[in-house]
Amino acid sequence: MDKMSVNEVPVQGKRVLVRVDFNVPVDEQCNITDDTRIRAALPTIQYLVREGAKIILVSHFGRPKGQVNPKYSLAPVAVRLAELLGQKVDFANECIGKAVKQKVSSLEDGQVLLLENIRFYPGEEKNDPGFAQELAGLAELFVNDAFGTAHRAHTSTEGVAHYLPAVAGFLMLKEIETMGKALQSPERPFVAIIGGAKVGDKIGVIENLLEKVDTLLIGGGMANTFLKAQGYKLGKSLVEDDKLDLAQLIMLKAQEREVLLELPDDVLVATVMEADVPFRNVQVWGIDEDEIILDIGVATAAKFGKHIINAGTVVWNGPMGVFEIPSFAKGTQVVAQAMALCKGATIVGGGDSVAAVKKLQVSDKLTHISTGGGASLEFLEGRILPGVAALKDKKSE
Ligand code: 3PG
Repeated sequence: MDKMSVNEVPVQGKRVLVRVDFNVPVDEQCNITDDTRIRAALPTIQYLVREGAKIILVSHFGRPKGQVNPKYSLAPVAVRLAELLGQKVDFANECIGKAVKQKVSSLEDGQVLLLENIRFYPGEEKNDPGFAQELAGLAELFVNDAFGTAHRAHTSTEGVAHYLPAVAGFLMLKEIETMGKALQSPERPFVAIIGGAKVGDKIGVIENLLEKVDTLLIGGGMANTFLKAQGYKLGKSLVEDDKLDLAQLIMLKAQEREVLLELPDDVLVATVMEADVPFRNVQVWGIDEDEIILDIGVATAAKFGKHIINAGTVVWNGPMGVFEIPSFAKGTQVVAQAMALCKGATIVGGGDSVAAVKKLQVSDKLTHISTGGGASLEFLEGRILPGVAALKDKKSE
């Protein structure tokens, strides 16, 4: 897991291809609505600027499926990046070919060029070796700083590393070191809090974390499947009936491993999943036939919060309820606030929980907020990410 860092190799005057994850959210008019991922890549880019490298940035944006589509152009990102860097960022309409080569060869030390969306090329997602060679031909060194895309074995995340010396950027290192330490040598008690709609989506994470944590808190829609497996009647709540045995198995495994697995004792219920509807806080045994669970209850939120505040390490992935609706966002808010109060290492991964943390403006009180959605999930599952595996190990120096 110890990967060589960009600051361990000579970069001065070199053409450096940097894979970044500029897959940022945009509105209908293609305005960037959250530039966190661009800001997160700045330390590596600024370092390369200072050290006098010729910087060629490559990223995907959306899922254009190998077709050129102006809706998915990275041109607006070049503008925002230039603002954030405080220097000019040149933009190439392509990723390979004569015109791009020309732009690259006219780069001076410390200058930055952003290539167009790499997913406009079918070879990207196919991890085509010919395409990888062409892309690699632009540079003398490859730096992967795109943790958010490291779970994809694509040309610009994995393939290109076969043709260039490949090292990790600072964001990539921060992600894998912080989450790696939490999984390998956590300060205890180690608490994981997992939410979201479905057990099926998080089964790998739950199984891996069960081997490591002291306490596992389960909320969100997925808790329903565990509660039903315990025999509770949950009205019209979302339940994965095909996962009831799996939920039983997880609860058994937790018992065997002496992991404290906590489920909701009380929940917020309503008869429809809409804003401004009447709702009530009930014990899990008191749900009416026409009711739907939409959040964890007040007592459960307090119980979860207590575990979190007293933890040595906390990893959180997934909301506790339908947090888009204000009445059902409280459970998720309590978790985010407890994370902010915890003195131990606090790590958040996954789009929805990250959104909750940002909305509550507690980001600066947490140890690490992952820029990866799928990537952080796969990392927490204990899987080897192809984009990380392709980088040079420290000891192979
Ligand atoms: C993400 O947004 O999670 C990453 O940028 C990866 O995007 P992808 O799921 O389209 O590969």
